[in-house]
Amino acid sequence: MQEELKNIEICAIADIKNTNTSEEIDKVRVKYLGKKGELTKVLRGMGKLSSEQRPVIGKIANNVRENIEQSIVSRINKIKQEELNSRLSSEVIDVTMPGQKITLGKKHPITQSMDDLIGIFTKMGFKVAEGPEVESVYYNFDALNAAKNHPSRDMSDTFYIDENTILRTQTSPVQVRTMEKTKPPIRIISPGRCFRNDTPDATHTPMFHQLEGLVVDKGITLGDLKGTLEVFAKYFFGSQTKIKFRPHYFPFTEPSAEVDATCFKCTGKGCSLCKGSGWIELLGAGMVHPNVLRNCNIDPEIYSGFAFGMGIDRLTMMKYGIDDIRLFFENDMRFLNQF
Ligand code: PHE
Repeated sequence: MQEELKNIEICAIADIKNTNTSEEIDKVRVKYLGKKGELTKVLRGMGKLSSEQRPVIGKIANNVRENIEQSIVSRINKIKQEELNSRLSSEVIDVTMPGQKITLGKKHPITQSMDDLIGIFTKMGFKVAEGPEVESVYYNFDALNAAKNHPSRDMSDTFYIDENTILRTQTSPVQVRTMEKTKPPIRIISPGRCFRNDTPDATHTPMFHQLEGLVVDKGITLGDLKGTLEVFAKYFFGSQTKIKFRPHYFPFTEPSAEVDATCFKCTGKGCSLCKGSGWIELLGAGMVHPNVLRNCNIDPEIYSGFAFGMGIDRLTMMKYGIDDIRLFFENDMRFLNQF
């Protein structure tokens, strides 16, 4: 039996030496050490041995097993090293090959405009406030003094999520949210997305961007509104720019106005951009309606304020002479890379 064991060891080690892959070595392991392997077979016969012989043979058998296992492990390591070496010599890295160019992204023109506007107004002392795009009917309409039958509440104009929840149609609800949270003096702007149930065309998309402004303090007048907007228009369109107010109606301001600026392209003479009039529409604005102040627990006998709201997409289109708003949202890099 002793000889048989030695023989197994010699054969196994020879077999192991002849293997070249991990699969081959696995086969050898099963052949000698597996459940039906040769070493196992011999060990089964140990029951027949005398009690003096058994520990002697047992020790030898263990030795043989250890030797086979060790030689398997060292063969596996060798095979792995050889595989690695052959990969290293076959897969050559050519350090002179040109690298992959990383293209740098840039800001979307709407984001650039938003950043410009934020820059102008923060210089004038405004802080940036934010509000949710999914908004309640209360903040978007009721608190802003919109009559229950105001046409903009209609399902055909506004996206309803349920009876009391909509996608905001304007950034004006941020006025209310701000006045609820902060006591005057208040001086905020709020840029963001708005949504209206419009069929897309050259001047409409169901999602667009506005920038809201709100100032509330003691003794704020229409003169402050005019002065603020004039400074803004000069920053945005150039120092020669003039503005004018046209009477208008908004539920949440009284009096209300639409504000025009002299066309920055023809400086007021009349051109294709301003359709010959010399003026371009800038934004909506007005003095905060006393009802809105009251809805926010601000006493209109003590405080007054002004608000304005502008379409960022429209302003950006004018600035760059873009004639179709849909271009902003098609993600065509040939268009976007121009700005
Ligand atoms: N929210 C108005 C609109 O979307 C604009 C506006 C804002 C008008 C603030 C007056 C004051 O048309």
